[in-house]
Amino acid sequence: MPQFQVFVTRRLPMALDRLQEIAKVEVWPERQPPPYEVLLEKVKAIDGLLCLLTDRIDRQLLETGTALKVISQMAVGYDNIDISAASARGIPVGHTPGVLTDATADFTWALLMAAARRIVEADKFTRALQWQTWEPDLLLGADLVGATLGIVGLGRIGQAVARRASGFNMRILYASRHQCDRQLETSLGVEFAEFDRLLSESDFVTIHTPFSADTYHLFSDRQFELMKPTAILINTSRGGIVDPDALHRALSSGQIAAAAIDVTEPEPIPTDSPLLGLDNLIIAPHIASASRQTRQKMAQMAIDNLIAGLQGDRLPHCVNPEVDR
Ligand code: DGY
Repeated sequence: MPQFQVFVTRRLPMALDRLQEIAKVEVWPERQPPPYEVLLEKVKAIDGLLCLLTDRIDRQLLETGTALKVISQMAVGYDNIDISAASARGIPVGHTPGVLTDATADFTWALLMAAARRIVEADKFTRALQWQTWEPDLLLGADLVGATLGIVGLGRIGQAVARRASGFNMRILYASRHQCDRQLETSLGVEFAEFDRLLSESDFVTIHTPFSADTYHLFSDRQFELMKPTAILINTSRGGIVDPDALHRALSSGQIAAAAIDVTEPEPIPTDSPLLGLDNLIIAPHIASASRQTRQKMAQMAIDNLIAGLQGDRLPHCVNPEVDR
């Protein structure tokens, strides 16, 4: 007989049988996330919550969920969750690190190469029947070989991006709060750089730092001014790291050449955002981890964390281990 009550905020790409053996599971059936008020109501009666990055899990919600034993987020990032409020209530929060590293690094490269070689523009050009002949200067892009790649944040995903650069014989700079040990730097072929130097020397700048108060609008007018006019910016981390107005100014004035982003501030991108009108910007709908296998692994990991939390065991992947038993 199920002992626990669980709410899952969206349909998952995975059967829930294992969870259903121990819990009565309600799954939010809609494509859009449950509105905050609905979540606030649901949380009153549940032991476990499986949520996504689109759900705001704030102090009020955590204080309303008096029976909550565990929160399990199906994402590696957890900036939508007030972790200190969860810790204050003794609620462990699970997330899904590691399993989406490769998919996200692959997608970063897909965006980087698409922006460098103007693939989206080329496709639109062809479909608009503008292809009339071979032209020496048609849709000229940027070379990767020998270029400098600047990686902002050398965690798991940043490292996986660096490893993929070796085939292009690139010079790789990285900026990070802490310099990595020499062995890791040598094996990845990366060089530590202070942030401003990375910006001014890189041909491609790719963001892999987590979103926090410290990284909010880390890229704004001053940072774009430091970048080369030929530089290309890639963001597969969180939209809030880049000031969207400054990005628009940089792209429309030619301060930088192009950008390719999987994340926006806010999400989804507002229908009247001027960014939507720019040809030198590729925008994807937050799908860097969206390979079939990866999303299944993420769902599996989120379920494992949830079951562990319900049963009073340590979460396999816990964001706030200080409260985990
Ligand atoms: C995450 O996991 O944080 C990604 O942004 C979604 O896959």
